[in-house]
Amino acid sequence: MPSDLALFMRQLLRNPKTISAMAPSSRGLAQAMTADIGPQTGAVAEFGPGTGVFTRALLDRGVRPSDLTLFELNPEFAANLRQNFPGVRVVTGGAQTIAAHCADVGAIVSGLPLLSFPPDLCRAIFTASLRVLRPGGAIHQFTYGPKAPLPDDIRQEMGLIATPGPRIWLNLPPARVYTYRRSA
Ligand SMILES: C[S@@+](CC[C@H](N)C(=O)[O-])C[C@H]1O[C@@H](n2cnc3c(N)ncnc32)[C@H](O)[C@@H]1O
Repeated sequence: MPSDLALFMRQLLRNPKTISAMAPSSRGLAQAMTADIGPQTGAVAEFGPGTGVFTRALLDRGVRPSDLTLFELNPEFAANLRQNFPGVRVVTGGAQTIAAHCADVGAIVSGLPLLSFPPDLCRAIFTASLRVLRPGGAIHQFTYGPKAPLPDDIRQEMGLIATPGPRIWLNLPPARVYTYRRSA
């Protein structure tokens, strides 16, 4: 939607560090991020939805609005999400607070710019996520970088394995989805 693009660009100019992207994600990346998720997943959390590209893809895949919780730090994005996605819970706050809001989560979709976060924030977000992620649940995270975006020492400390998906060339810039799961 053009108004969503204008909102994204305004917020990018005001908050370049917390947004850290040239443009909203493409539909192709949204398809890849949500490919394993559907109504059978149960509770789903989304981190850093921005203008809601992944939110729309999750709802299109049949996730019930009442099963979906969005964590968005930026109050203007959060207000826009509440208006565009009635019935979806929007927390205006950090992904690191997920354990205070959700339980028994089947999947987490993360649009967070992990590569620009300090390690302690990455650790706090993944620790809180694993407290509420159901056994067998997954965290789907994209990156523009050449390797998995969660620092390796944190991934190992948390007992996670990262599985790469295909590169999405038609995203600006091209991106890849990594799926994090607990090792068996
Ligand atoms: C790269 S943008 C991604 C937006 C959208 N998911 C997309 O792919 O087009 C990153 C988003 O994460 C949000 N954000 C940054 N830090 C956050 C945090 N700790 N918790 C929740 N949202 C955060 C920003 O406000 C921004 O909306």
